[in-house]
Amino acid sequence: MAVGAVPGNQERAMKAIIDGREMSWREAGAGEALVLMHGFPFDSRMWEPQLGHLPDGWRGIAPDLRGFGDSAGTAEEAYSMDMLADDVAALLSHLGIRHAVVCGLSMGGYVAFALHRRHPALVRALVLADTRAGADSADARKNRLETAERVRREGRGPIVDSMLPKLLSDETRAQRPEVGVRVKSMMEATTPETMIRASLGMAGRPSAEPQLRDINVPVLVVVGAEDVITDRGEAQLLTRAIRGAQIEVIQGAGHVSNMECPDVFNQALHRFLAGLQKQ
Ligand code: MLT
Repeated sequence: MAVGAVPGNQERAMKAIIDGREMSWREAGAGEALVLMHGFPFDSRMWEPQLGHLPDGWRGIAPDLRGFGDSAGTAEEAYSMDMLADDVAALLSHLGIRHAVVCGLSMGGYVAFALHRRHPALVRALVLADTRAGADSADARKNRLETAERVRREGRGPIVDSMLPKLLSDETRAQRPEVGVRVKSMMEATTPETMIRASLGMAGRPSAEPQLRDINVPVLVVVGAEDVITDRGEAQLLTRAIRGAQIEVIQGAGHVSNMECPDVFNQALHRFLAGLQKQ
């Protein structure tokens, strides 16, 4: 546990009707706001290792993005990253939070870019974990659309089967098999409809590359050294393009670095948050 972390922060499961729709989130701690946005097709439970060990003076808020976890879904054909970012902005407004450190892993990172583009005043700093700035390539988009079509016919199986083998490092699989069990259970709790709508939303997202040079808040980029979905090269591109960005490469972690190596992830996060408090 990092110095200054509060042991065993009590996590609270929260729910509210926001903009006419039920939204759920987990939170822990009290003080300055840290928003933790999950990847695809997971939910707020992926941030348990961070919510349970927040540094003193921080309030962690992990939303279930639209349709995921206990948040209600809606009937749109696609959940765009802009729509998901607006939902998070509405949650922060509901909580009376005007300024937050925004952390997103993978799809959560795409939402973080959208939040920064659409609601810049809300974003005090960014933590971009195992994510990329670029839009989908033509091939990636085609694959996503084909997989979404298969999910429509066959259920969530095609996404679970195609993603599961790529999510974790060899070390996690061999030494921490319980992480695989937790990851799989989140994937299996996500409805096929949400998988399809979020997949179509990711396929249609614009590139965040043009906005990187305009990011003028502190940024920490984190990547698992064995991430094969958004590899170290993507993290290095982000770090080079964003003025002053720091990078943390987590040895022994794959794509879900915060769950695979929570101690190292938390140490990097806590150092970054402590640096913000000194500014
Ligand atoms: C995620 O973990 O959120 C996904 O790998 C993102 C993606 O499919 O691009």
